[in-house]
This record gives sequence, structure tokens and C-alpha cells, in this order.
Amino acid sequence: MVVYKRLWGYTRRYLAMFLVGIIGVSIDASMQAVFIKGMQPLIDRVFVGKDSEFGLLLAGAILVISIIRMAGNFAGVYGMEWVGRKVIADLRQELFDKYVSLPATFYDAFSSGQLISKLAYNSEQVASAATHSVVTAIRDVMIVVFLLGVMLTTNARLTLVMLLLVPIIGLLVTVISRRFRKISHRIQDMMGNVSHVTEEAVTGQQVIKVFQGQESEKARFREVNEKTLRLHMRMRATHLASSSLVQLAAGLALVLLMLIATRPNMLSSISAGTFTAIFTAMIASIPPLKRLTGVQAQVQKGIAAADSIFQVLDVDSEQDSGTFAVDRVRGDIEFKNVSFHYDSSEKPILNDVSFAVPAGSVTALVGHSGSGKTTLAGLLPRFYTGYGGHITLDGHELADYALDNLRSHIALVGQQVVLFNDTVAGNIAYGALAGKSRDEIAKAATDAHAMGFIEQLPDGLDSLIGENGTLLSGGQRQRLAIARALLKDAPVLILDEATSALDTESERMIQEALSEVIKHRTTLVIAHRLSTIESADQVIVLDQGRVVECGTHEALLANEGTYARLYRTQFGDE
Ligand SMILES: Nc1ncnc2c1ncn2[C@@H]1O[C@H](COP(=O)(O)OP(=O)(O)O)[C@@H](O)[C@H]1O
Ligand SMILES: [Mg+2]
Repeated sequence: MVVYKRLWGYTRRYLAMFLVGIIGVSIDASMQAVFIKGMQPLIDRVFVGKDSEFGLLLAGAILVISIIRMAGNFAGVYGMEWVGRKVIADLRQELFDKYVSLPATFYDAFSSGQLISKLAYNSEQVASAATHSVVTAIRDVMIVVFLLGVMLTTNARLTLVMLLLVPIIGLLVTVISRRFRKISHRIQDMMGNVSHVTEEAVTGQQVIKVFQGQESEKARFREVNEKTLRLHMRMRATHLASSSLVQLAAGLALVLLMLIATRPNMLSSISAGTFTAIFTAMIASIPPLKRLTGVQAQVQKGIAAADSIFQVLDVDSEQDSGTFAVDRVRGDIEFKNVSFHYDSSEKPILNDVSFAVPAGSVTALVGHSGSGKTTLAGLLPRFYTGYGGHITLDGHELADYALDNLRSHIALVGQQVVLFNDTVAGNIAYGALAGKSRDEIAKAATDAHAMGFIEQLPDGLDSLIGENGTLLSGGQRQRLAIARALLKDAPVLILDEATSALDTESERMIQEALSEVIKHRTTLVIAHRLSTIESADQVIVLDQGRVVECGTHEALLANEGTYARLYRTQFGDE
């Protein structure tokens, strides 16, 4: 019920067009009833009474009725579909807007395939329910109502037979719709799994090839595919059972009608026309009644789909209760007794972490993989909140900053480079950087040592790089990400193994360039190469989420502790 009400909230925005649709559909339906009502005079006056002039009149009436019906049908269907499509477009847009505003924790919990399927498949289900099914439902209900009117005005006593159908159909519809909705929910989840499996197979195609995962992937897909098939067939069987039952019930009503109408005392009081009109009206009401149980399936699918979309829409967006905003921060960062764990497990990832990064200095974060470096860096742009302790930027708690303002101070090159299906220039000057000039873009690319390969691309900065930069090498992708971060020119720069895909030569060149740009900013660099660490102002050593050592490279080496061991195993050969 809540879902209906909420969907109605969307529909109400287009009330005028919705009314046009309803009126059009009712005109169509009422004309169909008028048509059948005309049976009575057609038979009684024209054929039994041999009134041929009245026959001409009726022919004229049929012409007029047909034209009115056509207009009503067009306006009705077009109006309803227009409203339905508008509602879907609104719903999709809202869902997409929600996706870009959801916190990182949400994305940890859902697979991207499922989220894409919600936007593509589920909203299409709402669409077909909101357009096609609503038109059919409204029209068929009206047809049945009007036909009932025809029967009642023709002969009320005979029509009472028809009313026997009402409780039977009512019962069917309630029992069946519950079942429909349950199956629909499961079908949607299955469609999510279908996209999920497909997405993995598509993005992982090389791994699948080399590790010969074709058979297991096929089996995985076959399983979800067959489950979906079975669910669809179960839905279809339920639907067919219900429409067959309606057919049977209507057949019984017809039999009853015959039995009553052909009793001797009835026969004398009913004209051929009256009987034909009622009989035809009853027969004519069977297809809409059958369709109505089918529409029920569509509508329930739509409701289930809308429900799953509303569930996402109801997830809280990223919290942004902070109001503090400055044009440019100096870049003093301090972590005080910071502890953190992800929602998915209670295991602490960061444990009582404290250190300070003075403005304009370079801090290298080292530690074994899994020690919590990326997690720590992700706290600064507030990807995750809900940590214990304090993190301050220029002395202000991160949570006090308005989210947009906080992020405007931070440039980040993550472990996984993300590129968009756009040109090289569009990828460097991404998002809020879109207003940067051509020269600035070129300079950032040059500083990131990316200009060399960019110039060799067919259209230079204007070359398209394919989805997620598939046409580039790992090192090239990383250099674009670095260029993007340099162009942002933010006071705080976070480099998370930003040069891991580069060879020593390019890394050294970037290092030189970086040593220029990091002069004026606070840099947190998660390093895996010695050269970066050696030149840092301080090195922080993380081990299982704890800061175990802190100092300069030389001091830590002399200390003969964790860092010295890490240094020998990891960098011994450099
Ligand atoms: N989104 C996540 N949800 C749950 N656990 C995570 C998530 N990301 C990382 N972890 C866990 O947190 C720990 C630290 O990971 P991470 O910060 O990426 O380490 P590092 O960058 O030092 O290699 C790992 O044990 C990892 O399994
Ligand atoms: Mg990491």
C-alpha cells in the first residue's frame, strides 16, 4: 500500500495528462459498451420489427462510435504512456542521483552488477507496470463496469447471475497477487545476479582465459539463468491458472444464464434482442476479466520493482552536517588516537593511530599490505566516517567541514586508477576541474610525464581512451591520474601507491616532477619504492593498524626495528 501511495506521488505531478489518459480510456471503454447495447434495438427493431430505416440510423451510429473510439483510444493510451514514461524517467534520475550521493559503505555491501540491474531492469519493470498495465487495467475495469451497466439496464434480474462472479474473482486476485509479488521479488534478485555474473565475466575475461575459467563461469551463469527461467515459468503458471479459472467461472455463469433464461415463464418475457445483448455483454466481459488477472502479474512485478528502488532511495546519503568552509587550507593534518573498523566486521583495521603531518611536509606511510594504509588515507576525504578519535585539518575536526569544501582541499591518486570513457583532456580536467584551460591541462600532463605518450596518440589530448582507459597501459593510466591530481592543485595530496605501475625510469622522472609540486603542499604518500621514502620528511610505519615506528628514513634504519626489517626484505634489491 505504501508503495502504491509513493508511486502515486510521482504520478500526481502529471495529473493533467493522467486525467486526459483516464478520460480517453473511459471513452474507449464506454463506446464498446454502447456498441453492445445497440444489439438489442438492432435485433428487436431492425430484424424482428423489420424497420430498415432504423437500420440505416444504427449504421450511422456505428460510424460515429468508431471514430469516437479511435480518438479516445489514442488519447487514452498516449496520455497514460506519457505519464508512465515520465514517472520512470524521474525515478531513474532520482536513483542515479542517489547512487552518486551514497556513502562508500553502501558500495561495500552491493555488487555493481546488482546496482546496474536495479537501474536498467527494475525500473523498466516499473515502466511496463506504470504504462501498459495501468492502461489495460483501467480500460478493462471500465469495460466490465460499463458492460455491467448494459446488462443491468437491459434486464436486471438476469444480470444478478453475473454478480456471482464477483466474489470468485475477488478471491482469486487477492490470493494470486500476493504470490505474484513474492515471485517478482525473487526474479529481480535473480536478474541482479545475472548482471553480476555477467559483469564479472566481462571484466575478468583475460583471467578467465588464462585460468580456463570458461566452464565454471558458464556453469555459474547457467545456474542463475535457469533459476530465473523457473521463476518466470512459475509466474506464468500462476497467471494461466488464474485466467483459466476466470474463464471457467464465466463459463458457469453463462450456463446459469441459459438455464434461467430458457425457463418457459422467462422465455415469454424476454425478447431476442434483450437476450442477445446480455449474452453478448457477458461474453464480451470475459476477455477483460481474464486480462485483468494477467495485468495483476505485471502490476505486482512493477510494485516489487518499485519497492526495491524505493529501498535504495531510502538509504541515507553521505552525511554532511559540517558547515565549516575555507577557500584554502594550510594543510596541517593530525590523527589523534584514531581507531576504525569496517561495517562488515568488528576486526579493528586501525588501532589508536596518532601522528601529525605539518603543512607543506611529506609523510611516507609504509607497512605490509593489509596493514591499513589505504584505509587510513581514505578517512581524510571522509569516505568512511564512524572512526574513533580525532582527525583534524588545520585544527578543525574533519566532520566540521562541509563535505564539498573538505574534498576541494584534497587531491587523491588511488591504488586503482579510474578513468572515464572520454578524451584524455576530459579525464585530466574531470569534474570540478572542467573549467581549466588547455594550457593548464597540458602543463599538468607534462608534470606527470604523460605528455610524451599523449602526443603519440592519434588526436593528442583529444584522443578517446575507451571505457576505463582500456586502450592505455597501466603506467599510462597512472600518469593520467597523477596529472588529474596535479591539475587540481589542492593543498593536500594523497598518493596511494600512485607510481606502482611505473618502471623505475618513469618513476624517477615523476619523482622529480613531484618533488617540485609537493613543495607547496602537504603530501601523504603510501610508498612502495625506496626513492619516495628516502626523500620524505617523516616515515610512519604501520603494522596491523598500529603505528609502530615514526621518524626519518635514516633514524628508522638506525633503530633496527620493523622498518629496518621491512627495508631489507622489500627494498633490499633496489
Ligand atoms: N571495504 C572494505 N570492507 C571491509 N574490509 C576492508 C575493506 N577494505 C579493506 N579492508 C580490510 O582492511 C584491511 C586493511 O586494508 P588496506 O587499508 O587496503 O591495507 P593496505 O592499503 O595497507 O594494503 C585489510 O585487512 C582488508 O581486508
Ligand atoms: Mg592499499
